Amino acid sequence: MGIKILEIDQITKEFEKDLKNTATSAEVDSLNIKYLGKQGKINHLFKILPVKTDPQIGKAINDFKSIVQDKLSTKLSEVLDSAEQDTFDVTVPGFEKPLGSLHLVSQTIKEIETIFQKLGFVRRRYPEVETDWYYAEGLNIPKDHPARDDQETFYVGDNTVLTAHTSNGQLREMELKKSPPIKMINIGKTYRRQIDATHTPMFHQFEGLVIDKGINITHLLGVTEYFAKSYFGQDRRTRLRPHHFQFTEPSFEIDITCGVCQGTGMMHQIPCKVCKSGWLELGGAGMVHPNVLRNGGLNPDECSGFAFGWGVERILMMKSGLPDLRLIYSDDIRFLKQF
Ligand code: DAH
Repeated sequence: MGIKILEIDQITKEFEKDLKNTATSAEVDSLNIKYLGKQGKINHLFKILPVKTDPQIGKAINDFKSIVQDKLSTKLSEVLDSAEQDTFDVTVPGFEKPLGSLHLVSQTIKEIETIFQKLGFVRRRYPEVETDWYYAEGLNIPKDHPARDDQETFYVGDNTVLTAHTSNGQLREMELKKSPPIKMINIGKTYRRQIDATHTPMFHQFEGLVIDKGINITHLLGVTEYFAKSYFGQDRRTRLRPHHFQFTEPSFEIDITCGVCQGTGMMHQIPCKVCKSGWLELGGAGMVHPNVLRNGGLNPDECSGFAFGWGVERILMMKSGLPDLRLIYSDDIRFLKQF
């Protein structure tokens, strides 16, 4: 038994010496074979153990074996690390990592948000799957009203829809705030059964709502002008055109002067091809209908408000001159990378 312990001691010393002299991964490999291999020194120790032997000796050999395994794997990572440092060539040009960027629509949403924040509007997001009440009924659009046919709505259930406009946010905001002043911009996804060069089934709208004591049409005009000039350019002008919406009274369409013909309607003595009239349509707006204020829990005798709902992709196309909206939602990275 004494002899075996002595042998382990000797092999341990030999191993430590070998380890010290090891500098490459090939040398680590050969130590692996020498000590841990089938014909290696440790297996040899096991082989020469008598059948009846002190269990302490078996344990000592096993302990030695795991020490060898640990030390060899540590050594291997050391030599690999230093080899890597040796071969690091500082003159090799680096790899250019492809950088992502915000999608065009996200960029536009940020721009819109920033413009309205400067006027003190709070950014909101309200549900895209909505009950009939917030989406239509509460906005003064009864079930049998023809205005329901205007919007090509996706129905999720009998009483729930994918929102075809962001106006549901009006009632939700009134419920949330409970009393004026209200000044929100709700930017969100909207859905309609439609697809062509200027319409996609999913698109975005931004819905403004301002309610306070004594709010009137001039406030709507001021906000509209500010937005148009900030987003499209200081030389642009806006106008109101009478229109009809169930949830506003009076209602308007907002037009903005065409950027191509500067609102003249003419280019080189012929009608401007982009607008034909000097004006481009921005979207709907109006003074919040008293019924809607009531449905939102507010008293129309004490406050009034204006609202508008315009298309994110629409203003993006108007500004950029992109010919086809479907490009924006394509996965063609060559197109998207330009922005
Ligand atoms: N919800 C209307 C639509 O999608 C747009 C709209 C018109 C929103 C007038 C308004 C508004 O807030 O006052 O066609």
